[in-house]
Amino acid sequence: MSEGDPMPPGAVHRSLPHDSADLHVAGTALYVDDLPEPPGLLHCAFGHATDGHGRLVALDLDAVRAAPGVVAVYTAADIPGDNDVSPVAGDDRLLAEAEILYPGQPLFLVAATSTRAARAAARLGRAVIEPLPALVTIADAIAANSLIEPTQVMRRGDADAALFAAAHRIAGRVEMGGQEHFYLEGQAALATPGEQGEIHILSSTQHPSEIQHLVAKMLGRAHADITVEVRRMGGAFGGKETQAAAFAAAAALVAATTGRAAKFRAARDDDMVATGKRHEFEIRYDVGFDDAGRIEGIRLDLASRCGATADLSPAINDRAMFHSDNCYFLPAVEIVSRRLKTHTVSNTAFRGFGGPQGMLGIERVMDAIAAHLGHDPLAVRRANFYGPGRDTTPYHMRVEDNVAPELVGALADRAGYDRRRADVAAFNAASPVVKKGLALTPVKFGISFTTTHLNQAGALVLVYADGSIHLNHGGTEMGQGLHTKIAQIVADVFAVPVDVVKVSATRTDKVPNTSATAASSGADLNGMAAYNAANTIRDRLAAFAAGRFGVAAADVRFTRGGVIAGGDVVAFASLCRMAHLGRVSLASTGFYATPDIHYDRATHTGRPFLYFAYGAALSEVAIDTLTGEHRVLAVDILHDVGRSLNPAIDLGQIEGGFIQGMGWLTTEELVYDDCGRLRTHAPSTYKIPTANDRPRHMQVEIWERGHNAAPTIHRSKAVGEPPFMLALSVFSALTAAVAAAVPGKGMPTLDAPATPERVLAALRDLRAR
Ligand code: MTE
Ligand code: MOS
Repeated sequence: MSEGDPMPPGAVHRSLPHDSADLHVAGTALYVDDLPEPPGLLHCAFGHATDGHGRLVALDLDAVRAAPGVVAVYTAADIPGDNDVSPVAGDDRLLAEAEILYPGQPLFLVAATSTRAARAAARLGRAVIEPLPALVTIADAIAANSLIEPTQVMRRGDADAALFAAAHRIAGRVEMGGQEHFYLEGQAALATPGEQGEIHILSSTQHPSEIQHLVAKMLGRAHADITVEVRRMGGAFGGKETQAAAFAAAAALVAATTGRAAKFRAARDDDMVATGKRHEFEIRYDVGFDDAGRIEGIRLDLASRCGATADLSPAINDRAMFHSDNCYFLPAVEIVSRRLKTHTVSNTAFRGFGGPQGMLGIERVMDAIAAHLGHDPLAVRRANFYGPGRDTTPYHMRVEDNVAPELVGALADRAGYDRRRADVAAFNAASPVVKKGLALTPVKFGISFTTTHLNQAGALVLVYADGSIHLNHGGTEMGQGLHTKIAQIVADVFAVPVDVVKVSATRTDKVPNTSATAASSGADLNGMAAYNAANTIRDRLAAFAAGRFGVAAADVRFTRGGVIAGGDVVAFASLCRMAHLGRVSLASTGFYATPDIHYDRATHTGRPFLYFAYGAALSEVAIDTLTGEHRVLAVDILHDVGRSLNPAIDLGQIEGGFIQGMGWLTTEELVYDDCGRLRTHAPSTYKIPTANDRPRHMQVEIWERGHNAAPTIHRSKAVGEPPFMLALSVFSALTAAVAAAVPGKGMPTLDAPATPERVLAALRDLRAR
C-alpha cells in the first residue's frame, strides 16, 4: 500500500470528479431504458392484486389476451422452473399462486408490443378473490404473534438487576415510519435471448449475481447460461438489492419463451406500490441510570414490520440490534427484536439497513434521560460514550477504534455548541410562537456484512499492449462513485493517470459469484480485490523489466514519470508493449475476503464488523407552534471516512445521506389503508426533500484526523450509509423545540416522521400533562 511510500501524489486521496459526472449532467449517461431497442422488442407489465390478503380462486385473463398489442400473458403455471425471486428464504413468488399476500402483489405478466399496450392490458385482468383477514399494522401483527422468524434476543449482564438497583428509572416508546427509496430511475430490465437457451439481462440491480442465479433456477438453466450486466443505476439506496429481481426475471421469462427481447420498466406508481421499503419500527425502552445520566441497565424491545415475506428482514433487524447502542456503553443490556409478518409489501434494504431505526431508539433514550434530569442532552451523551474499561458492545465485540468522544468534542468546539445553545434559549424566551431546538448527535456504524460469507469480492484487470487498462469488479455503480474510486486505486498501482483506466459495466461473465453492492462495503471489498489484481500484473511487469534492464525486481519503480529500472526510464505504455512481445500475461483476477470477522447468530455474539465508521452532526431547527411546520436552519457535520479515497465524492455521500435521513425523519410519510394499500404512491402525496429543504447553513467537513486502524484499502473507511444517521440530530432538535414550547412538562412524545400533524399532536399532548 502506498502509505509512507515516497511516490509522488498518486491517483488516490484526490478529489477527482465522478467518472460519469459530465454524462449525468448532459443527460448522456445511458440507463437501461435509454439504450437502442432491439428489433421485435416486447414490453412488460404486471397485473397487480388490488386488494390485500386473500385466496386466489380464479383469474380471468381473456380480455388481457384479446387486448391490442398483447403477444403473451403468463401466470405462475407458465413458469418452467422455480417461481421464486427471493434472496434467501424461497418465499417470494414472481407471480402469485394460491394465496395473495399483499396489495400490489403481481398476479400475472403481460408482454406486448409497447409499454402503453402492456400497461393498458394489465388492467383488464379479473381476479376472483376470497378475502382473508389482513394483518396490516405492527400492533395487528403483535396481537396475532405473526412473525417471519423467531424473536431474537441479544444480552450482556443482568439488565433486570441493574434496572432494579438504579437511582433513576424511566420507560417510554418511539415509533418510526418506513421510507420509499425514490430512486430517480425506477426498476428496469432488458432481457435478450441468445443461442442455445442463453439469456443476457441488463438490469438496474445492486446484485447481478443473485439475479443470474434466480433466473437460472426459474428457467431450469445453468448459471453459465445467464449473464447479467449493470453499467449504472439511477439510484438504488437498497431498493435494488433484492427487489430488482422480479422485473429482471419477468423480462427473462418473456425472452426465454418468445425468443424476442423483452423490456420491463415499471411505472412509478406501480413501483412504489409493489416494491418494499424501509421497515417501520416501534421501540420500547426501560432504562435505569445514575445522577449523571449514565446508563446502568437497559431493556430495549424492537418490533418491526417486515411485510409478507422474509426478504432481508432477518439481517436488517439484526443490524437494528447491532446499532441499538450507537456510541454508548450499555453495562447491562437486553435487546429483544420481534420481526413481524404482515399482509403488506415485503420491506427491504434501505440505506443503513435497520441501523437508523436501532439508533433512533437509543438517541430517544438519551433525550429522555436528559429531560428527566434537566441536563444538557450532549452532556448525557458524553457521559455514556464507550471508553476505557467500558468498551464491550451488547454483542460482546470490543470497540477498539472509538473516536466518537474526540470527534464530538471537535464538532462541538467548531460549531460553537455551548454558545448556540445559549442563543437558542435566549431566542425561545423572546419568541412566543416560533421555537428553536438544537441537538448534537453522534454516529457509530459497523462496517461489514453481518452475514460473514458475503464479505468477499473479485476483480478482473486487463492491461492492453498500448498501456490502456480495462477494469472490471463485482461492485455496481448507483451514483455513489464506486467505479471512480476503484479506477483511482488501480491507476495508483501503475502510477498512471486515472483516465488511462477504462471503467466498464459490471458483468457476471467477468467476475462470478459476487455479493450485492451493499452494506457500504463496495469500495472496501472490490477496491481491495482490484488492488490485488493490479498488483499481480505490476509484479509481472516489474519482473520482466528487471530481466530486460538487468536490475533486481524490487528496484523497478512505477512513477508518474514512467517506470524506472536502474538507470533506465521507460513509459508505462512502452513497457506494456515490450512485455507483450516478451509473452508476459497482462491480465489478472484479484480476490479479497475480509479478515478477522466472525459471528454466531445463535448467541448473537462475535466480531461481526471489521471496524466502525464515525460521525457527528449538530442541527438547529425551528418549529411554528401554530401550524406544526418546521425548518432545518443550520447543520454542521464532522464525519470520519478514514483516509478518504476521494474527498469530493465522500462529501457528496455525506451531504446526500444526511438529507435523505432528514427526509425519512421529517416529511416522508407512507400512509396505508386498513387493507394495507399504500395511499401515498406518487410524489404528489409522498414528500421527499427538495433543494429548498437544504439548510441555509450546511457545513460538511471530513474529519482531517481520520485514519482506519483496520487494514482497509489505503486506510479508507466506508461512507455510503453512515452519514444517513447524522440526521438523527434533526429529530432530536425537533424534540427539543417541542419541549421548549411547553417547558417544565418533560419529554415530548414525538414520533417519526415529525410531520406538522405529529408536531402539533406532541404539543397538544405536552400541554395536557
Ligand atoms: N449514493 C447514491 N448516489 N445512490 C445510491 O443509490 N446507495 C447507498 C449508498 N450511497 C446510494 C448511494 C447505499 S444503501 C449503499 S449500501 C452504498 O451507497 C453502496 O455503495 P458502496 O458500498 O460503494 O458505498
Ligand atoms: Mo445499502 S441499504 O446496504 O444497499
